Amino acid sequence: MKTILVTGGTGYIGSHTVVQLLNAGINVVILDNLCNSNKAVIQRIENLTNKSPYFVEGDIRDRTTLRHLFEQYSCDAVIHFAGLKAVGESEENPLKYFDNNVSGSVTLFEEMLRVNVNTLIFSSSATVYGNPGVVCYSESTPLQPINVYGQTKLMVEDILRSLKKSKPDFQIALLRYFNPVGAHESGQMGEDPFGTPNNLMPFISQVAIGTRPQLMVYGNNYPTPDGTGLRDYIHVEDLAAGHLAALNHLGPDNSFITVNLGTGRPYSVLEVIKSFEKASGKTIPYEVVGPRSGDLAEYYADPSFAKTVLGWEAKLGIDRMCADSWRWQKNNPKGYL
Ligand code: NAD
Ligand code: UD1
Repeated sequence: MKTILVTGGTGYIGSHTVVQLLNAGINVVILDNLCNSNKAVIQRIENLTNKSPYFVEGDIRDRTTLRHLFEQYSCDAVIHFAGLKAVGESEENPLKYFDNNVSGSVTLFEEMLRVNVNTLIFSSSATVYGNPGVVCYSESTPLQPINVYGQTKLMVEDILRSLKKSKPDFQIALLRYFNPVGAHESGQMGEDPFGTPNNLMPFISQVAIGTRPQLMVYGNNYPTPDGTGLRDYIHVEDLAAGHLAALNHLGPDNSFITVNLGTGRPYSVLEVIKSFEKASGKTIPYEVVGPRSGDLAEYYADPSFAKTVLGWEAKLGIDRMCADSWRWQKNNPKGYL
């Protein structure tokens, strides 16, 4: 039976992936410092799977923790979710982001090398494409991140491309996520942002549950059909499944892949509001304000490579994304607390 180290495994995408890994009969060791997640997630994972992941509370930047972990557990592969992801904060505090996301990743990769664990899946982001002048991003679209968070993702991708050249035995998948939303169908696991949500779906959910009075729609003068921004939202369960597909795909003959994980079908802010209202039966009050700095009008994935190479494609649409987000929010009005 395989054992996989999941860094950031108590986080939003990590926790959903851990459930799928355990359900597939894979042992999981989670390493998370809980800087943006709650330990209560572990109990939810156990409820959903009747299995227990091993949990190490610790930091990917802490070499001693990593050494103990790799001594204690014999890991076959690493799925590396741990990272900070708030674009605004990354601009205000770039060193924090380079330290956590880049230095932390380097420390992790060094310790993997030391114990000869050479299979890795890395959480990259569509943000590495920046503002490339096209709206449909294929994996060969030029990479020009426009914020520090995006720079850290591209730096780690570059580090892994160099690592692969120097150590051909490494098997690496770089997965570029579009906009992950939704929650586990049970309503027991979902996104639980600390403080004010930066992203659209958790903000709408909190308006629907009454935690926040209204949504601010950032701009309605974009060159899009209804004037609001268009994004490629992907259900977190589809995204998690993409990691298992990448894991199955990697092997001596398929040892380096870079793949977009998106649906290829973008939705506007107003369309998401409408779909959420339908799913929840609640009205979402909103006010249109000016555009958010750094936002693009529209972008979405060309998902065809993922289908060809991994045999993976997103199955769940916007209505299911909203229904599952709402069920999670309704059952857990204060998140995991
Ligand atoms: P999340 O914040 O919910 O999960 C990240 C987890 O990593 C958290 O549990 C946090 O406590 C942990 N962590 C952070 N720094 C750590 C460190 N130094 N040591 C140990 N643990 C640490 O975020 P998420 O949405 O699940 O994202 C997972 C990954 O996917 C991140 O790398 C993120 O950049 C990337 N990503 C996310 C999105 C998105 O919109 N959610 C989009 C593209 C890429
Ligand atoms: C943001 C990040 C991006 C990251 C992505 C997924 C920025 C500039 N970009 O992108 O790097 O990869 O999240 O985590 O932060 N919106 C509102 N009101 C809100 C929130 C959002 O109208 O309160 C709009 C936005 O303008 C956008 C859409 O909703 O048009 C989606 O926003 P969001 O969920 O933050 O994702 P991105 O902007 O794609």
